[in-house]
Amino acid sequence: MGGPWWRDAIVYQVYPRSFADSDATGEGDLRGVSSKLSYLSDLGVNAIWLNPFYPSPMRDSGYDVADYCSVDPRFGTLTDFDDLVSACGSRGIRVVIDIVPNHCSCQHPWFREALASPPGSTARERFIFRDTPNNWQSTFGGPAWTQTPDGQWYLHLFDASQPDFNWRHPDVPAMFERVLRFWLDRGVAGVRVDMANMLFKDPTLPDLDEHAAEVPYYDQPEVLQLYRSWRRILDSYPADSFPGPRTGVAEIWFTDPRKVRPYLTRDGLPQVFNFRLMLAPWTAGELRAVIDEARALAADTGCSMPWVLGNHDITRVVSRLGIDQELIRQPTDALRRGEAHVDVALGTRRARAAALLMLALPGAACLYQGDELGVPEYLGIPAARREDPTFYRTAGAAIGRDGCRIPMPWSGDTPPYGFAGEPVRTWLPQPADWARLTVAAGLSDPDSMLNLYRAALRLRREHPALGAGEMTWLERGAHELAFTRQPGFACVVNFGDEPVSLPSGSRVLLASGPVDDALLPCDTAVWLGL
Ligand code: NOJ
Repeated sequence: MGGPWWRDAIVYQVYPRSFADSDATGEGDLRGVSSKLSYLSDLGVNAIWLNPFYPSPMRDSGYDVADYCSVDPRFGTLTDFDDLVSACGSRGIRVVIDIVPNHCSCQHPWFREALASPPGSTARERFIFRDTPNNWQSTFGGPAWTQTPDGQWYLHLFDASQPDFNWRHPDVPAMFERVLRFWLDRGVAGVRVDMANMLFKDPTLPDLDEHAAEVPYYDQPEVLQLYRSWRRILDSYPADSFPGPRTGVAEIWFTDPRKVRPYLTRDGLPQVFNFRLMLAPWTAGELRAVIDEARALAADTGCSMPWVLGNHDITRVVSRLGIDQELIRQPTDALRRGEAHVDVALGTRRARAAALLMLALPGAACLYQGDELGVPEYLGIPAARREDPTFYRTAGAAIGRDGCRIPMPWSGDTPPYGFAGEPVRTWLPQPADWARLTVAAGLSDPDSMLNLYRAALRLRREHPALGAGEMTWLERGAHELAFTRQPGFACVVNFGDEPVSLPSGSRVLLASGPVDDALLPCDTAVWLGL
């Protein structure tokens, strides 16, 4: 294949709190992850990305970090982390961790010190304190400023428990350099950078003008400079032995590709997530447009934009693709609010096709735990069991992300479905009807989503076209996406209402649904040998 490992890697996103619970507390932990490595290596992934496991009051499920160089006792110890990295290494699986540099927890010692110090003190300058707030709103709802007892306000673009750092204070970049080295020295293969375009704010903190092209807390030029320095740190680790060249993957949500282009450089972070496939409605035209956009964006930059169909922030793919796709274009989240009819069977059929489409595209992909099982968004969480700060900050108007973070079903017919070794109250409740979605059920059903993923990842490893093979569109009907990869491979997806015929002379390598008489049914994808 050539090139660094991350260019074509399959990265599996482990949400530690919901992956596997080794000590029956109802929350997953690092030992739980270690206990499931044979599952991950049989699935065929190259790396895992772990969501935050640092000490945290868990007001935003760990994205409120109180100590960047330690492990929250609920997830285990640093020794458990080292054991996990080494157990992964012996299976050839790399470990990527999550770095949360935009904000910390209000329990972080620096913020406690800032609150205990007077206005104008150095301790306050590490954060963004002002005498008067501007009009910025929190991503989770409500104002982005909270007043302290002495009258000053501090900025938090997320929950009030997540104060934003002042990246223009030298202590902040210096601390994160230490944090990066701390984990890289422990053998991690890279970092996922949370809210990577937000760190620096326009120093004048102007009001947000909804109609202006520029958002004063995105894409400040200093952030690109910062990632150049991080790239030098990543590149200072030896590339010629496992885990190979270290990576940094930026989390950047963009709709306008021009906004992300400056991040794609040879001396910046090597990777930027591409969420556009995940956010697009299920139509051939719209998916083709985002695929073309991504190919043009990353071309000749040396960077990669991993494809994503799901993560811990977005509605589960089988539910998303099972609603009226017009609703995806609208800002209100009708699905999570229970206002959309969800056809899970339809969504599952499309999610299977989407998986084959994504895995046939050039480049890396990131798989969110549970998507390989086909678990839907859980819409039945009682209000009293909700955890996401979005729910509380909007007085329930926004339901939030809990429904895509449900503990993994591993086996058995009833909760906790093998998530823990004994009956426990899991931190988020699991649905009563997931018995057919467990790992054990998936493994024993040749037609399961899990076996489709396993077969696709096996073929991806074996087929010479599915590494760096050149991709070319095949022009077929308006409701199809079809392309070849060199040598000798094609992928065809049918988005229309009628079956379509397969290219002549091709042979089916893998299909997302039944293919009879060389006819590809609607909402089905096929991998072909040519
Ligand atoms: C993005 C993360 O993916 C999300 O889960 C988190 O709430 C925000 N960043 C804030 O850290």
